[in-house]
Amino acid sequence: MGKTTTAINLAANLAQAGERVLLIDMDSQANATHGLGVRTLRGEPTVLEVLLGEKPLASILRSSSVPRLDVAPSSPDMAGSSVLLPNLDRREYRLKEAVAEMADTRGRYDYVFIDCPPSLGLLTVNSLVAADQVIIPVQTEYYALEGLAQLIATVFAVRERLNPSLKVAGLVLTMMDPRTTLARQVEQEIRSHFPNLSFKTVIPRNVRLAEAPSHGLPVSLLDPHCAGSDAYFDLAMEVVSHG
Ligand SMILES: Nc1ncnc2c1ncn2[C@@H]1O[C@H](COP(=O)(O)OP(=O)(O)OP(=O)(O)O)[C@@H](O)[C@H]1O
Ligand SMILES: [Mg+2]
Repeated sequence: MGKTTTAINLAANLAQAGERVLLIDMDSQANATHGLGVRTLRGEPTVLEVLLGEKPLASILRSSSVPRLDVAPSSPDMAGSSVLLPNLDRREYRLKEAVAEMADTRGRYDYVFIDCPPSLGLLTVNSLVAADQVIIPVQTEYYALEGLAQLIATVFAVRERLNPSLKVAGLVLTMMDPRTTLARQVEQEIRSHFPNLSFKTVIPRNVRLAEAPSHGLPVSLLDPHCAGSDAYFDLAMEVVSHG
C-alpha cells in the first residue's frame, strides 16, 4: 500500500521543482489519474489502447492539476487487459516499446513514473520491464513484510529474464505511526534486512495525504505545510540525489 500516493506526490514534487514529468497509470482503478484531477470520459483512449498497439503513447497524454506534470490515463476499461494482453506478441514489452516509440520521451520528460496495479500480473510485469528503477513503498505492518518478499522475487525474476538493467531504487516506509511499537519494530527489521536499500525519509500516516486525491491534487498543492507534504518533499530530494 502507498504506491499511488507515492507516485502522485513524488511526480508532483519534481514537477513543482521545475522538472518535466510524466506519470503513466497502469491500474484499472485509475487512482493516480483521478488523484491528479484527470477525468476520462467513456470511449476516450487510455493506456490500454497504447498497450494494444491501437494508439501511440503521445496521443493519449493529458495535462494534470500540476503544471509540467502530464498523465497517461487509465480507466476501468484497463481491466480488459487481463483478457487481451496475454494473446499479444511480446506481451511483456508493450509498455517499454510504446515509451521507446515516443521518440522524444527522454527529451520531452525528465522523469517518467509508472503507477503499478495491486496484483503482480502482466501490467506490473510491463511496468517493471519498461522501468529503469523501482521504488517500493512498505507499510509498517507485519503482513506487509510477506507481500514484500513476493514483490522482491518478482522484481528479481523480471531482472533475470526480461530487464537486466532494472534497479531497486529503494524501499520507502510509509503510513508510519511512530507511537506504535509495532511500526518501530517493522522499521528496524526492514532497515536491518535492507541496509543499503531503504530511503531515510519515512512517510508518516497523515490524513491530508488521504484527502488530497478527492480534490484531484497532490498534497503539496492542497496543504503545502502538513507533515505529509514535508515528507514527500524530502523523499523527492532523496530520489533525485540517488540519480
Ligand atoms: N501516508 C499516508 N497517510 C494516510 N493515508 C495514506 C497514506 N498513504 C496512503 N494513504 C491512503 O491509503 C490508501 C491506500 O494508499 P494508496 O492508494 O497509495 O495505495 P496503493 O498501493 O496504490 O493501493 P492499490 O494497490 O489499491 O493501488 C489510500 O486511501 C490513501 O489515500
Ligand atoms: Mg494504487
